Amino acid sequence: MSTTAEEQAKLVETSKRLAAYQAVKDHLLPEYTRIGIGSGSTVVYVVEAIAALGPAATSKMAFYPTGSQSEELIEAAGLTLQYISKLPAGQQLDVAFDGADEVDDDMNLIKGGGACLWQEKIVAASAKQFVCVADFRKLSPRLGTAWKKGIPIEVLPMAAPRVLDELQRMGSQNPRIRPGLPGKAGAIVTDNGLWIIDAPFAPLLLPKDTETDRGTDGAWTVDALADGLIKIPGVAEIGLFYGKNGLQVASGAQKPVAAYFGMADGSVEVKTPSS
Ligand code: 5RP
Repeated sequence: MSTTAEEQAKLVETSKRLAAYQAVKDHLLPEYTRIGIGSGSTVVYVVEAIAALGPAATSKMAFYPTGSQSEELIEAAGLTLQYISKLPAGQQLDVAFDGADEVDDDMNLIKGGGACLWQEKIVAASAKQFVCVADFRKLSPRLGTAWKKGIPIEVLPMAAPRVLDELQRMGSQNPRIRPGLPGKAGAIVTDNGLWIIDAPFAPLLLPKDTETDRGTDGAWTVDALADGLIKIPGVAEIGLFYGKNGLQVASGAQKPVAAYFGMADGSVEVKTPSS
C-alpha cells in the first residue's frame, strides 16, 4: 500500500514522538538535576515529554542547551535554563538527550544536519550518559548509506577553501559550503559564528569490515576518517560522534549509551552497545 507524502510526514512525526517519550521515561531519573538538551525536530518531543512530567518532577532540574534553538525550547517549556559554561570543573551532566542524522551498527553517529554539532558534542561529552532519539529513517548499517548529504564539518570561514581542497584530497565527493538560503543569502552561519561544510564520503566502514583504516575500495573506517578530519587546520568540529560511550569511559564520551528509534509500525526499537 502506498502512502502519500503527507501520511509519511505524519508517520515520521509520530515515530519521533514515541521514541522521545520512551527515552525520557527510561533515562530521566527523578534524582537527576543536570540534563543536556540537544537540537533538531526530534528534541522538541523530548522537551515536551519532560515538561509533561510537571513541575513536581522537574523543578529541581536544570537544562543545558546545545544552541539557540534548544535554549528557546527549554525556556518556552518553563524549564530551568543553565549553561554548560557554568558547569563546575569536575562535574558532569546526569544525562543528555539529542537527535541524530544517521546511526550505524556500532552506534557511531552523523550529527549536524541542524548545524549545531559543535555545542551538541560538548554537551554529549559532558554527560555521564548520552541518549540518542530518532525516527526509523536514521537507523542504518553504515554511516553515509542513508544520509547522503555528507558529514557536517564546522569550519572557520577564512579556512573554508583550504578545508574543501583537503576534503577532496581525502576522497570526499563534492564537499560544499552549506548555503543559508532560503533564510539567509550566502553561507549558513552557526551559533558559534562559523560555517558548515557538508562532505559526502563513500559509506564508512566499521572495524569488522576491514583490518586497516581504508577498505579495498578506498572507503574509510569511521574512526580513521574522524581522526583525519579533526586534524585539518581550520576545522573546529566534525559531525561524526565516535569512539567510546559513557559506559566505557567516565567522561568525554561521544557515542550514546542507548539509541531510541520510533518505528513505522508504532513500536520503539532500543539499540544499546551490546545489541
Ligand atoms: C542538529 C542535529 C540534529 O540532532 C540532527 O540533525 C537530527 O535532527 P532531527 O531531529 O530534526 O531529525 O545534529 O545539529
